[in-house]
Amino acid sequence: MNARAWLGTLALAAAPGLAAAAGAVPDIFKDADLPLGEKLIAENKCSACHIRRVGGDGSAIYRPQGRINTPGALRGMVDYCSSELNLGLFPEDVTAVAAVLQRDHYRFGQSRPAR
Ligand code: HEC
Repeated sequence: MNARAWLGTLALAAAPGLAAAAGAVPDIFKDADLPLGEKLIAENKCSACHIRRVGGDGSAIYRPQGRINTPGALRGMVDYCSSELNLGLFPEDVTAVAAVLQRDHYRFGQSRPAR
């Protein structure tokens, strides 16, 4: 077994149930329409409001180590936020938005430097 194959096995053993492919995407986000999600985030001024709260570019509101700590919880939060705001998003819109946040901020299922 070469070193690469061995590392692959190690990664699989360390993350059972997660896709081993590069940039493992959680199942619920696999078919998400990322360009649509980016458009919806921009159109609905998600950042504008978050900036009022946390400053900077608003992304500090997204805390992967906080109470939103699974892909399902993230999607649920986006669903909640968009219902509160009466955005009238379809379920696939909510998934698309959550998938973009997953990719850019939360990165569930992908290795992060240990803290
Ligand atoms: C009217 C203001 C406002 C708008 C608009 C808004 N949010 Fe939020 N958002 C908040 C506040 C306030 C919180 C909660 C911060 C806290 O828990 O302290 C929050 C929290 C969140 C969280 C959870 C962050 C975490 O890790 O705890 C997500 C995800 C989120 N918003 C997504 C969105 C998305 C997507 C949109 C656009 C569709 C959006 N928000 C629009 C005010 C807003």
